[in-house]
Amino acid sequence: MDIKFVKADALKEKPDSSTLGFGKIFTDHMFMMDYSREEGWHDARIVPFANISLHPASTVLHYGSEIFEGLKAYRTADGTVQLFRPMENIRRMNVSADRLCLPQIPEDLAFEVLTEFVKVEQDWTPSASGTSLYLRPFMFGNDETLGVHAVHNATFAIIASPVGSYYKEGINPVKIMIEDEDVRAVRGGTGFAKCGGNYAASNRAGERAEKKGYSQVLWLDGVERKYIEEVGAMNVMFKIGDEIVTPMLSGSILPGITRKSCIEVLKSKGYKVSERLISIDELAEAMENGTLLEAWGCGTAAVISPIGEFCYKDVKYTVNNGEIGEVTQMLYDTLTGIQWGNIEDSFGWTYKL
Ligand code: PLP
Ligand code: COI
Repeated sequence: MDIKFVKADALKEKPDSSTLGFGKIFTDHMFMMDYSREEGWHDARIVPFANISLHPASTVLHYGSEIFEGLKAYRTADGTVQLFRPMENIRRMNVSADRLCLPQIPEDLAFEVLTEFVKVEQDWTPSASGTSLYLRPFMFGNDETLGVHAVHNATFAIIASPVGSYYKEGINPVKIMIEDEDVRAVRGGTGFAKCGGNYAASNRAGERAEKKGYSQVLWLDGVERKYIEEVGAMNVMFKIGDEIVTPMLSGSILPGITRKSCIEVLKSKGYKVSERLISIDELAEAMENGTLLEAWGCGTAAVISPIGEFCYKDVKYTVNNGEIGEVTQMLYDTLTGIQWGNIEDSFGWTYKL
């Protein structure tokens, strides 16, 4: 597809890497293309980063027809820029689109526009340790009518933001509140899709946790509030005795690409990994009897984030003396080593621009 390029009049100054945080600064340009049932995807363009103008009746503003993805571009020691498993994000985006009745983007088209956009903005990929260029593809329904129905018109866009760590703790352990009141998703709902509505529904519990000094909540299943699901912006894994356990993909949690990569790394190193139901009672018992040896979250923004404390029904449990454990550190070193090109990518996960 032809991608029109409108260059920004003035390019912004690149930020100091030590001030990045997550998702606060945006690059000079953004990618956009439009969809209609009659024309399919059209009008692909890279344009100066700017506000988006919407009709007040636009579907996304009323009925939440929105999906998104998150992936990163990394600068390697030789200065090249590479993506991590981009096709996984593209495939997951189409799964989300299917659930939300938004249009599919052919995989080769999505890959072409993503890589073209990153090539234009690649100078924004920071080089300091632990930093990257976070890419946020998103799609929203844009019909200019109030009827509730599958979307006929949509917009797909990609914005980019140079980032440091997602949590202020960086690689230091975070504290997580186990939520037993609100639920995030139910089977048959949209939990497996990466759609904005899931996050909107999560905010109330997240706010309550933050007020009590916790970084995020760990969700329990939406029916019995019994089984562990995932954390607000990451999947979760535990080392209980010599077993690595992570909640199975039941339909109500996001099939994380970092989760999948952790499982592949762990299996390649001979660890036993179980994707299964894990109840809060089993976790509480393991915390009480000392068999919970490590806990960590994994996600694109969060990378590998050790969990040093859980709070459940006002009881606080410290994990591994609040320190990063051996398996967590190994996963962090292996994944970030591959992503930043410091160790050989024997899995074939990286794509050099
Ligand atoms: N779970 C939720 C709710 C998320 O928002 C994310 C972040 O994308 C993840 C899990 C981890 O997914 P991934 O590893 O693909 O980034
Ligand atoms: C990501 O890790 O890419 C995410 O989308 C998490 C986000 C909600 C901050």
